[in-house]
Amino acid sequence: MLNTFEGLVIGIESSCDETSVAILSGQKLVAMSTATQELIHREFGGVVPEVAARLHVESIIPVVTDALAQAGITVDDLSGIAVTNRPGLIGALSVGCAFAKSLAFAKGLPLVGVHHLEGHLLSPFLGEKSPVFPHLALIVSGGHTELVLVKEFGHYQLLAETIDDAAGEAFDKAARLLGFGYPGGRALSEAAKSGISAAYKLPRAMEHDPRAFSFSGLKTAVMQIVKAEGDALNSNDLAASVQLAIVDALSSKVAYCLENVSVELCTIVGGVAANSALCERIALECRRNGIQFLCPELEYCTDNAAMIALAGSSRLALGEDDSWRFDMFSNAPLPGLDDVG
Ligand code: KG4
Ligand code: ZN
Repeated sequence: MLNTFEGLVIGIESSCDETSVAILSGQKLVAMSTATQELIHREFGGVVPEVAARLHVESIIPVVTDALAQAGITVDDLSGIAVTNRPGLIGALSVGCAFAKSLAFAKGLPLVGVHHLEGHLLSPFLGEKSPVFPHLALIVSGGHTELVLVKEFGHYQLLAETIDDAAGEAFDKAARLLGFGYPGGRALSEAAKSGISAAYKLPRAMEHDPRAFSFSGLKTAVMQIVKAEGDALNSNDLAASVQLAIVDALSSKVAYCLENVSVELCTIVGGVAANSALCERIALECRRNGIQFLCPELEYCTDNAAMIALAGSSRLALGEDDSWRFDMFSNAPLPGLDDVG
């Protein structure tokens, strides 16, 4: 089991377009409430930072109130606070951080600022699963694509990262070109189920470099196909072809690491971990190498406060307390990160 903080820890996540609050006891989720802004940003074809921040201000108190009510507790029952403070949209992060600092001040509770990706890294262990260290983790979200060796909690080594777009961004950009709206990853993966993945030929960049992913060429290739095909375009076939290209690119690097790095467990985390084709392929690579595979339950793949509460609880258990002395950052490396190895 993970070493977690005694009592009930509240987690607050507002780094992008989800206001989410969770109450955790050990690794076990007691309650969670999330207000999503997806429908509002869809109108603009992407997240508008100013709008996101204003909507977090509107949602934060109702979401906290709802999570406490679901748990049947009041703020007096809490023992610690965790809040995402990096990386993310500064205006959006500020709302969660200002709330968390005020609560810590009012109730005299310990408070830690959590790195959003450290939250994602712990998401497969919500509940009762025990992490095995070291393990390999593929982080695939809207803003990040990284392969990380998790040596132990708080000690990471970067094995590969994207040099341009993130995998989720590649799904979203292709989905937009196909007219699936924003964010389109989920819609594209649905369409892919009835498409033929060999129908369109798409590039797999950086095939021979185990340390780098690249997805910007894929977007260009999709754009050219959409233009050339016109009315003859089969969107389901192109969706399936895009999905296969992304799954191939991600899984080949994971397979390389599974063969060259000594681990007993491999995880996939982040919004794109909700993609079943990707999970099936990585699970297959793990089986081939006799390695255990874990991905988070579907609701903990995309942004949520449960994972932030878990990462924060693990930091509080180490005796950390940032009090009110922490800032927000739009970009920040994982804490305890070694260079590409
Ligand atoms: O982790 P997340 O919720 O937010 C960030 O931290 O970025 O990830 C969101 C990303 C979006 O790009 C979304 O399109 C993608 O995850 N996503 C998917 C699926 N569900 C969400 N991509 C592919 N297939 C899915 N089923
Ligand atoms: Zn995320």
